[in-house]
Amino acid sequence: MMSIRLENVSKVYVSGEVETHALKDVSLSFDNGEIVAILGPSGSGKSTLLNVCSGLDLPSSGTIEIDSDTISDMSTKELTKFRRDHLGFIFQQYNLLQTLNVQENVEVGRAVSRDPFATKEVIDQVGLTPNIDKYPYQLSGGEQQRVSIARAVVKKPKVLFCDEPTGALDEATAKAILTVLENLNKTYNTTICLITHNPNIAHIADRIVKLNSGEVTDIITNHKKRKAKDIDWG
Ligand SMILES: Nc1ncnc2c1ncn2[C@@H]1O[C@H](COP(=O)(O)OP(=O)(O)O)[C@@H](O)[C@H]1O
Ligand SMILES: [Mg+2]
Repeated sequence: MMSIRLENVSKVYVSGEVETHALKDVSLSFDNGEIVAILGPSGSGKSTLLNVCSGLDLPSSGTIEIDSDTISDMSTKELTKFRRDHLGFIFQQYNLLQTLNVQENVEVGRAVSRDPFATKEVIDQVGLTPNIDKYPYQLSGGEQQRVSIARAVVKKPKVLFCDEPTGALDEATAKAILTVLENLNKTYNTTICLITHNPNIAHIADRIVKLNSGEVTDIITNHKKRKAKDIDWG
């Protein structure tokens, strides 16, 4: 069973004489197979939370455990390996390799895993089988985001971290991408941590963690979970 536990996690950025308290004493957990939305306005600490949960950055204090591993105690080298082996990332920018086609971009994700899914199966899951030989410049933004999702998912991550994954997309395309995430969550029971500043998107989550000024202000169990295709975009 995969789970992530944060206990009393704080993060202070120091630049020159300015200290920014980006996370203040955050304690929460993510359970296996959950979709958790992290909701908050710009600057509330969402990306910082994702970065410390996923070992992209270290907290200033507190502990973070993923399954039986305490990642807040790991060295940079151990963290790099842990991230590569166990975690998937999707960002607003797609970060695809422009000289590789769809299949090859997904193979990049597959190559780092000891127990990956089959490339073609995952490409099919994200609806890109007809585009498998295309290069990124031949794809729409939504299609490129599907490639980046497939690249993250193919390695069978314990958790898929998504930082504003639909931030650059129009409503219809964004809903299609969220539907892809819903389907992956259902098919593979992948735990999904979904960062968004859009309260409507949070409706697709099992739980909603609200952040404001670096503090968790609310953790809501969503009893009216909706499908992405059914949410009002506002
Ligand atoms: N590397 C950094 N150095 C200094 N301050 C940072 C850094 N990253 C983020 N911050 C500050 O921390 C706060 C939270 O930022 P962030 O986590 O990116 O918020 P969000 O993703 O919710 O928009 C902001 O005030 C931001 O300016
Ligand atoms: Mg952010």
